[in-house]
Amino acid sequence: MTETITKLAKNHTLSKQEYISLINCNDKESLEYLRQKAEKQRQDIFGRDIYMRGLIEFTNYCKNDCLYCGIRRSNKKAQRYRLTKEEILDCCKNGYDLGFRTFVLQGGEDAYYTDDIIVETVREIKSQFPDCAVTLSIGEKPKESYKRYFDAGADRYLLRHETASAEHYSLLHPKDLSPENRMECLKNLKEIGFQTGCGFMVGSPYQTVENLAEDLIFIDKFKPHMVGIGPFIPHKDTPFRNEKSGTLEMTLKLLAIIRLILPKVMLPSTTALGTINPKGREMGILWGANVVMPNLSPTTVRKKYMLYDNKICTGDEAAECRFCMQKRMESIGYKVVVSRGDYPDLQK
Ligand code: 5AD
Ligand code: FES
Repeated sequence: MTETITKLAKNHTLSKQEYISLINCNDKESLEYLRQKAEKQRQDIFGRDIYMRGLIEFTNYCKNDCLYCGIRRSNKKAQRYRLTKEEILDCCKNGYDLGFRTFVLQGGEDAYYTDDIIVETVREIKSQFPDCAVTLSIGEKPKESYKRYFDAGADRYLLRHETASAEHYSLLHPKDLSPENRMECLKNLKEIGFQTGCGFMVGSPYQTVENLAEDLIFIDKFKPHMVGIGPFIPHKDTPFRNEKSGTLEMTLKLLAIIRLILPKVMLPSTTALGTINPKGREMGILWGANVVMPNLSPTTVRKKYMLYDNKICTGDEAAECRFCMQKRMESIGYKVVVSRGDYPDLQK
């Protein structure tokens, strides 16, 4: 397996068959070799700097009914909430003072937030915090809407593709969501000029090793600026309540492979990874990730943005995550930096 890993580290691409054997590899020494290669490539570009994004979960209303997600519209038990523009701006102000220079506005697909409201909110954030980047993560929209957000000053957009296999996609989503539209949205975002992020869950129901290889090939071709991956974790009020979680080992392996495919990619060590293992986020960094996304949402709503069971970072002190994260990164010899953290070729 070491030849395959060496080849990936050098050429940044493998054949489908090679991806499959690497994903299947469970040999401890080979995996440690993979980890070292990934850590080295990340360090050659970013040193020991870790970029922070302040995550603002501004609505948990969603018109979609994805089978895996705790805020799906059929979950009648979810306590729904929406933040006002003013509340979002308060989070940014608080975040700015804590050293955040990127704000990620994430929410369900909630028609209450019209394009006008999103545009206004983005404009206001960019005018009050001109040295900050704004990332949107609000789902599938028409290209014209994306263009309006971009023209209002939004810098980046996260839209996980969830799975690159159309067949697998149909097992995770109701019929009214199509994999073609998802991919079209990603293409549009990139064309418009967003730093664009895709991604998927590791160990989602019905996922095969071949599906994962297809996700890697998609990432290899699409060349996103950001990739978000984390383990699938069941939520008790969804159809997938009895499914198994994705594993730490598989998520770490995939983080390292993605780092080697795209050496410069902005790759978060996610909350879901920290939820399945108390040291998950630290390990994510050691396996090639270079971004963390502490929670900046008002503490009153944190417990309500439950995409999966036992989600961490729902504590009642607003600044806790920021400092917790700093300590965690320092404990493994890394440091969080106060910077926008743009994709290396696009730095402002
Ligand atoms: N487990 C892990 N991740 C999930 N997401 C949604 N539901 C779950 C779950 N049960 C992820 C999806 C989505 C992102 C915001 O959160 O990949 O794109
Ligand atoms: Fe949120 Fe530690 S990062 S509590």
